[in-house]
Amino acid sequence: MRGIVLAGGLGTRLYPLTKVTNKHLLPIYNKPMIFYPIEALTNAGITEILIVTGGNNAGDFLRLLGNGKDFGLKRLHYAYQEGEGGIAEALGLAEAFAEGEPVCVVLGDNIIEKNIIDALKAYESQDGGARILLKEVSDPQRFGVAVFEGDRIIRIEEKPHQPKSKYAITGIYMYDSKVFDIIKELKPSGRGELEITDVNNAYIETSTMRWSILDGWWTDAGTIESLLRAGNLVAKTGANKID
Ligand code: G1P
Repeated sequence: MRGIVLAGGLGTRLYPLTKVTNKHLLPIYNKPMIFYPIEALTNAGITEILIVTGGNNAGDFLRLLGNGKDFGLKRLHYAYQEGEGGIAEALGLAEAFAEGEPVCVVLGDNIIEKNIIDALKAYESQDGGARILLKEVSDPQRFGVAVFEGDRIIRIEEKPHQPKSKYAITGIYMYDSKVFDIIKELKPSGRGELEITDVNNAYIETSTMRWSILDGWWTDAGTIESLLRAGNLVAKTGANKID
């Protein structure tokens, strides 16, 4: 399993904090945001990691992370996203890195309390396809939301005004190599981006999507409120704990 951290985007919801830097370089308590998703992957035993970023501050990631020595890695891989084509477009840039292996994708602004190793093991014992991690939240309309029929997810709705469940799709996804073919077929959404939710819905349509509930707290950090919450949660309990 290879790891991918998606750290592009304009971070407009954090403006003016992101006027002169990339969202993922902002602090969450005592570390830059991007440290947390990298640690989520290394804690789960993943050693080959690609960072996808873009924009004017891409060089700062190289200066900050170097070859990954701080994370016990022998090397880090980097890819550059030109423009703002969305999360799924950024993931599409990882095809050469993946070399046909399955991938665990973590959105660079997702911070978690615990370890994802059990979900990874569950993925490895399923027959390819995809696996998503869900979390019950009080504000599902901010996220991709699972629509259930019994315990089966029949669809994911992206930021619905009237969510059909309280289960948000966290930004941690596991895919087999078919993901890259799916991305090539995607059409841009209303906001002109290739959406990760469309990728997940493609797996759901072929009944090759499984899901787990994420253990421990989870937050994104892409808005002023969630950035503050992430800092407070990390200060209080620490993140990426290996219980
Ligand atoms: C993205 C995804 C959404 C997911 C969320 C998790 O939203 O599109 O489905 O629930 O990440 O953080 P964004 O934060 O890019 O608006």
